Amino acid sequence: MLSKKAQLLKPSPTLAMANKARELQAQGHPVISLTVGEPDWPSFRVANQAAMEAIEQGFTKYTAAAGIPELRAAIAKVTSDEVGVSYTAAQTAVAPGAKFVIYALLQMLINPGDEVLIPTPYWVSYPTMAELAEAKVRFIECGESENFKLTAEKLKNALTEKSRVLILCSPSNPTGLSYSVTELKALADVIAQHPQLVVISDDIYNKLVFQSSKDLLQNAEGLKRAPQLLNVAPQLKNQVVIVNGASKSYSMTGWRVGWALGPEPLIKVLADFLSQSTSNVTSISQKATLAALQKGGPELKEAVAKLEAKKNRMLELFQKNLNLIKVTPPDGAFYFWLKVDSCFNRSMDHQGQKIVLKNSIDVAKIWLEKYFVAVVPGIEFGSEGYIRMSIAASDKDLDEAYHRLKKFESELQ
Ligand SMILES: Cc1ncc(COP(=O)(O)O)c(C=O)c1O
Repeated sequence: MLSKKAQLLKPSPTLAMANKARELQAQGHPVISLTVGEPDWPSFRVANQAAMEAIEQGFTKYTAAAGIPELRAAIAKVTSDEVGVSYTAAQTAVAPGAKFVIYALLQMLINPGDEVLIPTPYWVSYPTMAELAEAKVRFIECGESENFKLTAEKLKNALTEKSRVLILCSPSNPTGLSYSVTELKALADVIAQHPQLVVISDDIYNKLVFQSSKDLLQNAEGLKRAPQLLNVAPQLKNQVVIVNGASKSYSMTGWRVGWALGPEPLIKVLADFLSQSTSNVTSISQKATLAALQKGGPELKEAVAKLEAKKNRMLELFQKNLNLIKVTPPDGAFYFWLKVDSCFNRSMDHQGQKIVLKNSIDVAKIWLEKYFVAVVPGIEFGSEGYIRMSIAASDKDLDEAYHRLKKFESELQ
């Protein structure tokens, strides 16, 4: 009964772990869930206010499929200022979440058998979305020696005449690491030599960045952001599609607003695709996003400062006091990318049995089932030996999680 495409579908592993955590919680266990990539602070007040006004003013009907003109224009303006390349509203489309934007872009860019290049570790949804577009997925392994980032050399070696799309994410989910200007320049040189290649630049975390990270850019309000390809290579404008959204920067995950900016013919078909599939993003969410973009700066500054303080505190605790679990200091986003391979081939007593931990799934499982700390195993992001832990949680929960992981280390045999 099911199509081949339907059979390809895998549920999101992050959501699967979150569900398992919820199940244990429902059974009365004190689970701390550090799985899902979601800010733990509220949606911005300016957004909430604008949404309420939209409802009161009856702004609750269909809009243009690719978004209301004023939102498209505001996104174009903000993004042009950020990347130093000029975009118009017609080169901008709004869709229900950055996830759907990437899905839709791949549907518009890929012919069956075209290659989508995905550096590992990657955000869990990229490979499945590429497969659903009937692409051939080529993973480019980027390990510890490359600081988990794609290098020009690796890109050059991976490219073939079938390579159609490269997905870059900076700061990265899952590692939180950003590309420096030098690294971006080196990649840009290779990309420029392959004009058939389109880069989907997933910039969803670009405003959740820490002072410690290299080469941060800054707007007139003093808001920091990570650099991206067009900042260093504006001449690549026709090869780059920028993806961003309201979910992470403005803590608006439930509002479902994402967007793309790129060459007009691509954005035009993307708009047609939206008009034939989802139609517009909720009218109210669009008004809320417009307010967040125009007036959310102060709240964003506050949110990032709090996130940075949390990151610094946890980093210090982990680096000082954990011996087996090693953390890579992130440049942004809200994840710790934990190296846990020193725990492999060691054992642990659990429910009357001796369990030998062989991989990241075993480690994540024991953390959840014995210590009630829910995280996502690195293998789900294409990198064995690691665990992704969200730090977008309360200080109380993070402290407790840290104590439980310390206990885990002390009980590992
Ligand atoms: C790297 C990355 N890209 C895109 C998204 C999608 O965000 P949304 O669909 O909520 O806009 C996420 C969300 O987890 C993400 O981590």
